[in-house]
Amino acid sequence: MSDSIFIPHKDALLLAMEEKARKDYIPIIKAEVGQFLQILIKAIKPRRILEIGTAIGYSTIWMARAMAEDTELVTIEKDEEMYLQARENFQAAGLADKIRPKFGDALEVLPYLGGEFDFVFIDAAKGQYLNYLELVLDLVPVGGLIIADNVLYRGYVRKSGQIAHKRRTMVRTLQEYIEVIQEHPCLESIILPLGDGLALSVKKSYIN
Ligand SMILES: C[S@@+](CC[C@H](N)C(=O)[O-])C[C@H]1O[C@@H](n2cnc3c(N)ncnc32)[C@H](O)[C@@H]1O
Repeated sequence: MSDSIFIPHKDALLLAMEEKARKDYIPIIKAEVGQFLQILIKAIKPRRILEIGTAIGYSTIWMARAMAEDTELVTIEKDEEMYLQARENFQAAGLADKIRPKFGDALEVLPYLGGEFDFVFIDAAKGQYLNYLELVLDLVPVGGLIIADNVLYRGYVRKSGQIAHKRRTMVRTLQEYIEVIQEHPCLESIILPLGDGLALSVKKSYIN
């Protein structure tokens, strides 16, 4: 029995990817987050989607399946093995023509991407979220949406009291991300307790 009240439909490819992720300890989004991203994409109909942190392409496939015919999705992964597996999965999903996978560190790739992205999904190194945000803000038009996964980090980000030493830096970094997006003059943000915690920020004005 699922531990969630949501039971999104998953085909054989998504199930096989979940199994692979479980066996190889690859962190991927929860299926209900995939479904939520799909609903947002179907409602907003973004023209260009940017994902930071492809892994094997599980979240990418959830998003790409909801895209309109003329929407493009660029996804960045810095681990070569993951990047290559993701490419195979995009082929298997019949989505290779809609997804542009990029191999490299997002912090180096983002400044050279060019163009605007009206829907951004951040799901890479948690300690780098603020650095990704800084670069992404230049790429997102007013009205664009920036979503970050894992911001509640297994509940630790909202826990009061002592946090184990090994988790302290991560928790502090994510708390800082939440503070920044909530106080940022160009953003309006909300934290949703979906999956491992999603931060949604809409860009409401340009900087300055
Ligand atoms: C949580 S996993 C992504 C999971 C994927 N979004 C999903 O739900 O199917 C994070 C991935 O980000 C990659 N990553 C970490 N830091 C990165 C960076 N600076 N640039 C690009 N990829 C990065 C890691 O190699 C890892 O594969």
